[in-house]
Amino acid sequence: MALGLIFLFSLCFTLCFAGNVSYDSRSLIINGERKLLISAAIHYPRSVPAMWPELVKTAKEGGVDVIETYVFWNVHQPTSPSEYHFDGRFDLVKFINIVQEAGMYLILRIGPFVAAEWNFGGIPVWLHYVNGTVFRTDNYNFKYYMEEFTTYIVKLMKKEKLFASQGGPIILSQVENEYGYYEGAYGEGGKRYAAWAAQMAVSQNTGVPWIMCQQFDAPPSVINTCNSFYCDQFKPIFPDKPKIWTENWPGWFQTFGAPNPHRPAEDVAFSVARFFQKGGSVQNYYMYHGGTNFGRTAGGPFITTSYDYEAPIDEYGLPRLPKWGHLKELHKAIKLCEHVLLNSKPVNLSLGPSQEADVYADASGGCVAFLANIDDKNDKTVDFQNVSFKLPAWSVSILPDCKNVVYNTAKVTSQTALVEMVPDNLQQKDGSKALKWEVFVEKAGIWGEPDFMKNGFVDHINTTKDTTDYLWYTTSIVVGENEEFLKEGRHPVLLIESMGHALHAFVNQELQGSASGNGSHSPFKFKNPISLKAGNNEIALLSMTVGLPNAGSFYEWVGAGLTSVRIEGFNNGTVDLSHFNWIYKIGLQGEKLGIYKPEGVNSVSWVATSEPPKKQPLTWYKVVLDPPAGNEPVGLDMLHMGKGLAWLNGEEIGRYWPRKSSVHEKCVTECDYRGKFMPDKCFTGCGQPTQRWYHVPRSWFKPSGNLLVIFEEKGGDPEKITFSRRKMSSICALIAEDYPSADRKSLQEAGSKNSNSKASVHLGCPQNAVISAVKFASFGTPTGKCGSYSEGECHDPNSISVVEKACLNKTECTIELTEENFNKGLCPDFTRRLAVEAVCS
Ligand SMILES: *[C@@H]1O[C@H](CO)[C@@H](O)[C@H](O)[C@H]1NC(C)=O
Ligand SMILES: *[C@@H]1O[C@H](CO)[C@@H](O)[C@H](O)[C@H]1NC(C)=O
Ligand SMILES: *[C@@H]1O[C@H](CO)[C@@H](O)[C@H](O)[C@H]1NC(C)=O
Ligand SMILES: *[C@@H]1O[C@H](CO)[C@@H](O)[C@H](O)[C@H]1NC(C)=O
Ligand SMILES: *[C@@H]1O[C@H](CO)[C@@H](O)[C@H](O)[C@H]1NC(C)=O
Ligand SMILES: *[C@@H]1O[C@H](CO)[C@@H](O)[C@H](O)[C@H]1NC(C)=O
Ligand SMILES: *[C@@H]1O[C@H](CO)[C@@H](O)[C@H](O)[C@H]1NC(C)=O
Ligand SMILES: *[C@@H]1O[C@H](CO)[C@@H](O)[C@H](O)[C@H]1NC(C)=O
Repeated sequence: MALGLIFLFSLCFTLCFAGNVSYDSRSLIINGERKLLISAAIHYPRSVPAMWPELVKTAKEGGVDVIETYVFWNVHQPTSPSEYHFDGRFDLVKFINIVQEAGMYLILRIGPFVAAEWNFGGIPVWLHYVNGTVFRTDNYNFKYYMEEFTTYIVKLMKKEKLFASQGGPIILSQVENEYGYYEGAYGEGGKRYAAWAAQMAVSQNTGVPWIMCQQFDAPPSVINTCNSFYCDQFKPIFPDKPKIWTENWPGWFQTFGAPNPHRPAEDVAFSVARFFQKGGSVQNYYMYHGGTNFGRTAGGPFITTSYDYEAPIDEYGLPRLPKWGHLKELHKAIKLCEHVLLNSKPVNLSLGPSQEADVYADASGGCVAFLANIDDKNDKTVDFQNVSFKLPAWSVSILPDCKNVVYNTAKVTSQTALVEMVPDNLQQKDGSKALKWEVFVEKAGIWGEPDFMKNGFVDHINTTKDTTDYLWYTTSIVVGENEEFLKEGRHPVLLIESMGHALHAFVNQELQGSASGNGSHSPFKFKNPISLKAGNNEIALLSMTVGLPNAGSFYEWVGAGLTSVRIEGFNNGTVDLSHFNWIYKIGLQGEKLGIYKPEGVNSVSWVATSEPPKKQPLTWYKVVLDPPAGNEPVGLDMLHMGKGLAWLNGEEIGRYWPRKSSVHEKCVTECDYRGKFMPDKCFTGCGQPTQRWYHVPRSWFKPSGNLLVIFEEKGGDPEKITFSRRKMSSICALIAEDYPSADRKSLQEAGSKNSNSKASVHLGCPQNAVISAVKFASFGTPTGKCGSYSEGECHDPNSISVVEKACLNKTECTIELTEENFNKGLCPDFTRRLAVEAVCS
């Protein structure tokens, strides 16, 4: 009874309100207690409110204590400094309340500059056009609006009582972001700005500490923190500060036209274990759920609409296996060590040329050891306290009692899964099977009144101010009847140079070709033969941005759009059109009229068609349909489309562009987790579209009558569009007898018996599904991967029945690799394994 009360009280004390947050050189101190914290970045505008509770819950189940988010200034003040928006997916307070209700803490990275592969780094475009403004330096306007926004957010948080000092979940706030990389480019103004930002933040009196990440001259009033793939060697500038890792990148972002990067779970776990081994106390995954850059929020240029990031929770909200599970086991193992780690001084021992132990022993007899093998090729057997331990290459073993290994970063014991996008044809109930497509075709060039004319070119971004991706540059050229190419059937060649980001060229309303830059380089050249006729020819060039720059010194001054247009092949040589009279039109007619929204859809005359036109540029398609069956998350398959924008019921799905990466990139079939990770280490999908599926949140669908609108720029086949459902078709595990487990009930007990581990396979189905079939089970020496396991030389024929008995019709099950379950006499000279593949339904 008394114990129960104390337990309830302390639970409430830590979870119901955080209270006083301070720190010392070891860790944050919350209500007088040192804390070792696992944090997970989930950005509220990159999912929808209907997903937030489940995302937060999945993070908590994954062993996460803290949710971390940026505040995205340009979604809260999109058009002017006098208006604030916090509706829908921009409802910051609602998001934080959900985190608090889950009993978790929150780190609020106010920025307001965020980078984050987010449009314009999170700063509203209007601020660039306030005369005399220079971003992120000692500039009056920038500091004025930055302070105003920061103060507004802090006041909002205070009003809602969200800071820990008020009983809320916010334990830390961040000002600026990774400024240290760029400060030098701003000279003395940069230094003054960084110091001002820290002082401005601290003077907000939030009652919780402020952090600055990658800020190499941060003042002592804030905590400077680390962002990298590895932060074990990081040291805060001041010795009284704890070691905090604000961005551990468990994957990487994607770029239209590039292959997809992968970071193996073993390496992520290695980096985290090394950080805690070396005295770290707060570690944040950036991202834990990456989500989606809906609409035109992706930064750039060329960042994909998906911001999956190969994070522990995938874009669609499903745990990514085995990464999510492997890190969950890691968090469990680290938490077993928390008290001793935080309350003792480490001693490090060399165990070999690239092997080392850090041992933490406290006064009450507690002992924790981390044994690391940082050799990136060779496994190694080491002696530690007179016991020998086998350490796989590039791994850390965690011993919460200095005796038993409960976790090794290279041994993945958690289940894995096969995830598929199962296509579901677009459909509509009401009897008629055929969908009723309707189309509206934009004119190539000027629609309505021209916006303005000019001899020569204007900058694209200065002109659109990012109200749209699109800017038409049009002119005309008169071709004499005596041009040789007309007689010879030759084609003159159109040569264009652009600062970016992409372009479609039309002559006399016909698409002649397209060009675009790429992730490393947005300026590009266009060179294509074109068809010209005698007499007047209209040249209409559709210039496009694909996300504004989001980082770099003076990034707001980087331009886009045409810089040179020439046509070669005339009798008199090459004609330079650059100084011609150009007529400009900002945006598309359909955008202007809002025809993608239910309230604007009838403002043009759509043409009904039984067969929607294929390969037709500048076409708006609309169709009314039912939601896909089931309740799995949904992705719109745009493999057979060209490039454009998509909406459902007026909600912005975003830019689509199934742009393929080069087949000549270096892709891998297996990723070796050993050795330092870099984003180009383990690419997949060479020669494939970078992004084929586009997340459409379930909550955007109505039971029927859903309006899907697509704007296709260059031509595609809309009849091949499908909604695909994201399904875990199989769950799998492959565990060896010698795999450790952080689930041991009592370490001492296990230690005293012998070191025979009770390795076990744990399987669980997502979303309350049950295991309906066991497709494969083999105890012995099975090989292969999830979806393609095969029996080895050694196989216990009872394997299937043992697994079926334990798992069929259950949401989750555990099978221990014990004598009772399996024939342990089998091939005693091998380390035996159990492989299982099961189906959930
Ligand atoms: C918060 O904790 C710090 C360090 O433990 C202590 O110095 C300070 O007085 C506390 N503040 C409040 C308001 O309790
Ligand atoms: C900003 O400067 C431009 C010219 O540099 C001028 O045309 C414009 O009126 C100015 N705007 C404001 C608000 O001062
Ligand atoms: C080991 O500990 C010593 C003494 O605290 C320290 O100087 C040294 O940097 C540590 N070595 C490593 C690799 O952490
Ligand atoms: C290891 O063995 C040596 C010699 O047998 C002994 O002196 C020492 O105390 C042992 N160390 C531990 C940690 O058991
Ligand atoms: C060259 O030929 C083009 C196309 O016939 C014509 O428009 C242009 O005026 C000519 N330029 C000169 C310098 O004659
Ligand atoms: C990106 O574009 C630049 C300039 O056009 C080119 O030099 C570079 O090779 C391209 N890179 C890739 C990966 O396509
Ligand atoms: C955009 O316009 C500003 C003036 O408002 C000018 O200083 C800047 O150079 C222009 N940018 C480009 C890329 O032309
Ligand atoms: C599983 O459930 C199905 C249908 O409810 C039933 O027919 C079957 O006997 C069950 N199997 C086991 C092993 O419980």
